[in-house]
Amino acid sequence: MQTEKKRIMSGMRPTGKLHIGHYLGVLTNWIKFQDEYNSYFLVADWHALTTKYDRTAELKQNIVDVVMDWIASGIDPKKSVIYLQSLVPETSELHLLLSMITPQNWVERDPTLKDMIKILRGNKEGEEQDVSGIVSYGLMGYPVLQTADIIQFNASLVPVGKDQLAHLEISRDITKRFNHIYKTDFFMEPQPKLTQIPLLKGIDGQKMGKSFNNDIKISDTEEDTAKKLMRAITDRSRIKRTDPGHPDQCEVVCPYYKIFADEQTVQKQRYECENAIRGCADCKRELIEIVNDYFRTVRQKRKELENNPDYVHEVIKTGSDKARESAGKILKQVKTIMQMY
Ligand code: TRP
Ligand code: SF4
Repeated sequence: MQTEKKRIMSGMRPTGKLHIGHYLGVLTNWIKFQDEYNSYFLVADWHALTTKYDRTAELKQNIVDVVMDWIASGIDPKKSVIYLQSLVPETSELHLLLSMITPQNWVERDPTLKDMIKILRGNKEGEEQDVSGIVSYGLMGYPVLQTADIIQFNASLVPVGKDQLAHLEISRDITKRFNHIYKTDFFMEPQPKLTQIPLLKGIDGQKMGKSFNNDIKISDTEEDTAKKLMRAITDRSRIKRTDPGHPDQCEVVCPYYKIFADEQTVQKQRYECENAIRGCADCKRELIEIVNDYFRTVRQKRKELENNPDYVHEVIKTGSDKARESAGKILKQVKTIMQMY
């Protein structure tokens, strides 16, 4: 029976259209689990407010964009629950209860939160800037809210990137503390599940990110993709077409081949580069075809979704209703365990 499956849950803040690094690093990891587990995927709009409370005009569109990217990539609303945080008020009640048992210094020590605060204040070099100003009370509760997201389904696995590990450690600590204080083993300790896939770099060789202007979006057209990949950096020591190249010093094009092309194509590309048989422009043109082929059906699906906004809203609404139902049950049990009135 469905309900006997273990549960996984994960989420993203709606900050705009997703790039192909999200696709490979996060979404493929989520998709793998949706048959085996009861899966809950969250669009964390409250978490977005913790730093972007002053830019709410973009929020609705960002939510829809994220959901379209997910479905186009293969998150199947028939298998997984796709839901919006602010449509599940049960989460906020659990968050409040958890906030009572969470020591203040636990959240103050959260390294990921510390980093977010540095970025917010605009004093962290080489990171995305987000200088909207204050560190709010809500931001300090970030990992506590995230804990509520996870344990309101009693999820045991959380497929996330490395950047979320510090938050998750706090989630496990809060879970243990709850069980300890109320002498129960009700909550499972949520474990992270990291992807095996190597990080995809941006076209400039730096970390891929939308505010670095170096990303390729899932929703980019084939022409956009071509333009961007033509700008990608290559082996800097290869000046003339006749110079032999060094694929391993070609920080973007070469890793992209390894990820997106088949073994034979990779062998050929390396050989022809090392022996100056192919130029970098030719090499990129072939890569553009490969990358565009790879994303063709995903992009077609996304176009269809863009033309069908009612369906997307329906998915969000239905998923959020389902999430409310599960979360409501757990919340009720939590209140019983805490002996609330
Ligand atoms: N903090 C996550 C991020 O920035 C988003 C998130 C919110 C999340 N709630 C979660 C991730 C619960 C995993 C589980 O991407
Ligand atoms: Fe990189 Fe290809 Fe140029 Fe070689 S030929 S340096 S792999 S872009």
